[in-house]
Amino acid sequence: MAKPDKNNTSRPAKSVRHSFTLTDNETGKSWEFPTLYGTVGPKVLDTRKLFNQAGVFTYDPGFASTASCTSEITYIDGDAGILLHRGYAIEDLARNTDYTDVCYLLLHGELPSPEEKSEFDHEISNHTMLHEQLVRFYSGFMRSAHPMAIMIGVVGALSAFYHDSTDINDPMQRMKAAHRLIAKMPTIGAYAYKYSLGQSFPYPMNNLNYSENVLRLMFSVPTREYDINPVLARAMNRILILHADHEQNASTSTVRLAGSSAANPFACVAAGIASLWGPAHGGANEAVLNMLHEIGTKDRIGKYIKKAQDPEDSFRLMGFGHRVYKNYDPRAEVLRKTCHEVLDELGIHDATLDLAMALEEIALKDAYFQEKKLYPNVDFYSGIILRAIGFPVNMFTVLFAIGRTVGWIAHWKEMMESPESRIGRPRQLYVGSKKREFTSVANREHTDRKISWSWLWGGKNKG
Ligand code: CMC
Repeated sequence: MAKPDKNNTSRPAKSVRHSFTLTDNETGKSWEFPTLYGTVGPKVLDTRKLFNQAGVFTYDPGFASTASCTSEITYIDGDAGILLHRGYAIEDLARNTDYTDVCYLLLHGELPSPEEKSEFDHEISNHTMLHEQLVRFYSGFMRSAHPMAIMIGVVGALSAFYHDSTDINDPMQRMKAAHRLIAKMPTIGAYAYKYSLGQSFPYPMNNLNYSENVLRLMFSVPTREYDINPVLARAMNRILILHADHEQNASTSTVRLAGSSAANPFACVAAGIASLWGPAHGGANEAVLNMLHEIGTKDRIGKYIKKAQDPEDSFRLMGFGHRVYKNYDPRAEVLRKTCHEVLDELGIHDATLDLAMALEEIALKDAYFQEKKLYPNVDFYSGIILRAIGFPVNMFTVLFAIGRTVGWIAHWKEMMESPESRIGRPRQLYVGSKKREFTSVANREHTDRKISWSWLWGGKNKG
């Protein structure tokens, strides 16, 4: 099969119309479907009229071959290890700028001028506090609750505070909702952590930048000054930038799908947080640390590499592999260096990092991982950095959620402003029973079938 033309060099001259033909091999009937072209990237087959014309659906679980929208925000070439936000390389952004600069870029499409930047930073600083009534929500949670569970609840509850003042058809109010979300997320996340510790909730400080505020909100206590360590603030800035957006991943698609019904944006972002929580997505950085602890020592790496390759074993190397990167994740490269900077600054010689490096080396040389193009992803290193900074493992995904909020809301905004947006409503390939006659309980046959959880809920594994 021909490789996709990533640079679209075969885009035909304007007068030539490129298309694809679908033929029903039973009837010989054919239909022609137009080709769409992105700025870069492979050709896209426009199947919007497929069902109306040919009476068939496409089957694509996981949406590996399906574009659900057009977007101008982020471009990824997974084979080449390229990630661009509004055309700017992620490495340049992560090394040269700060998180709110990237927020502005994602939301507005351009990097801000000095005046725009200072106005934007001022606006974000002005929305960092939580309504005192919202702060009371925390006391309804168990102290032991997972902070992501608290995030889902508290961010969802923002919709109760701002529903009447959020007219999603008004661009100014959409923007206000975006600013509120970006500004309040560090405060909401930090309070989830403080609540678990039983410590008082600090107020955000307007004289600090975004990353500095994240650190201070999380780690300051009222009894002493909190000194910002610039190396840790820079690492936090990079982690936030590197997680800011990643086009149509599970959580962003969830936000778009929830928002496609014109739902409240705060509630949509709460849905995105729920999707992010899973170990196959944002929960992976937490899973990496848990996995490294389980492996324990370098001599046990081989055993776990084998487990990861065993089709009968559900174990996977956490922090390895990606749906789109079939090359080194460019975000992982930046974080690998940041990881060493942080450990050097803190004077930590971490056995877990040594183990991670050894695991990385062995996996990269392993035929299975090479053949399947499984490289370390961003979560492989972010967990180690966050742990060194002092975050407990269950806060890792919260930090991911804080960084990703701008991506979610930028995509929500783009969807709301696109004339092509429709309510999301995927089709299905129905494989259940055909229509059958109903029988009342009294007339149903007796059975000696053992009713067990595995029979009812085992799915493909049911015995
Ligand atoms: N360890 C061992 N085998 C793996 C792994 C892994 N981490 N990842 C994929 N494979 C194998 C998989 O078993 C499959 O083998 P086969 O072809 O024999 O069935 C093949 O590689 C392709 O995998 P897939 O599951 O079809 O790929 P996917 O695109 O559906 O899954 C993934 C992507 C990220 C869910 C998966 O690689 C994974 O579970 N990785 C570990 C979890 C992780 O690190 N997730 C964080 C992703 S990055 C953060 C983000 O952007 O959200």
